[in-house]
Amino acid sequence: AFLDHLVIFFRDQALTPEQQIAFGERFGALHIHPFIPNLENHPQIIRLESADSGPGQMAYQSNTWHTDLTYEAEPPMASILHGLEIPEAGGDTMWNNLYAAYEGLSAPMREFLDGLTAVHNIVSSMPADFMEQSWAPKQLQRLQEITPPVEHPVIRTHPETGRKCLFVNRNFTSHIAGLHRKESDALLAFLYEHAEQPEFVVRFKWRKNSLAMWDNRCTQHYALVDYRSKRTMHRVTVCGDRPY
Ligand code: SIN
Repeated sequence: AFLDHLVIFFRDQALTPEQQIAFGERFGALHIHPFIPNLENHPQIIRLESADSGPGQMAYQSNTWHTDLTYEAEPPMASILHGLEIPEAGGDTMWNNLYAAYEGLSAPMREFLDGLTAVHNIVSSMPADFMEQSWAPKQLQRLQEITPPVEHPVIRTHPETGRKCLFVNRNFTSHIAGLHRKESDALLAFLYEHAEQPEFVVRFKWRKNSLAMWDNRCTQHYALVDYRSKRTMHRVTVCGDRPY
């Protein structure tokens, strides 16, 4: 189901952190996030917790279409998100289908993109107010030391299904290697808009104890920040391999 549907949903899963970790470990080793604070005593779990009145600072990293951690050389294969506190209204998550995005391109465009690589860099995701801080250069240097920029194919072949999909995203792809800056910006803008069209998107309405598991090798996601009360989620992330 995971390989066929790309994102799968389970209702009414009252999981403890240990159970969520055990479930994630059925699919591979769990990733420890290099920057986002982990749950105390459970480094494999990222706790995404809003303020009581609605989205906190971190939510604004997730309301852009992105694939998790593509700035790493071996980005994760899956993420598994558990809803603990769900707003009465809002706070949905959307995913898109990057196989469909690839298959929806014309044959000449697919041929042009095949063989190109793109640079992925955590610094690309930093918001303007971060970049304006006096401490930003030092912080950026630290980020780059831990996770230097990496190159991934623009069109990736899924290691399990053998299907091709688009593999660039707004948060972390800085540019397409070998193109002029303006060419790269224009092409990426087109590819993002193409991949985000509603025909390729599914939207999930969370309930307490819903669980979503998605394939990071062939999807992007977007967490809406349209809620005005508490939202708390726990995520485990399953390690992946080098895209080819
Ligand atoms: C994420 O980007 O992993 C967070 C998704 C969400 O909070 O719905």
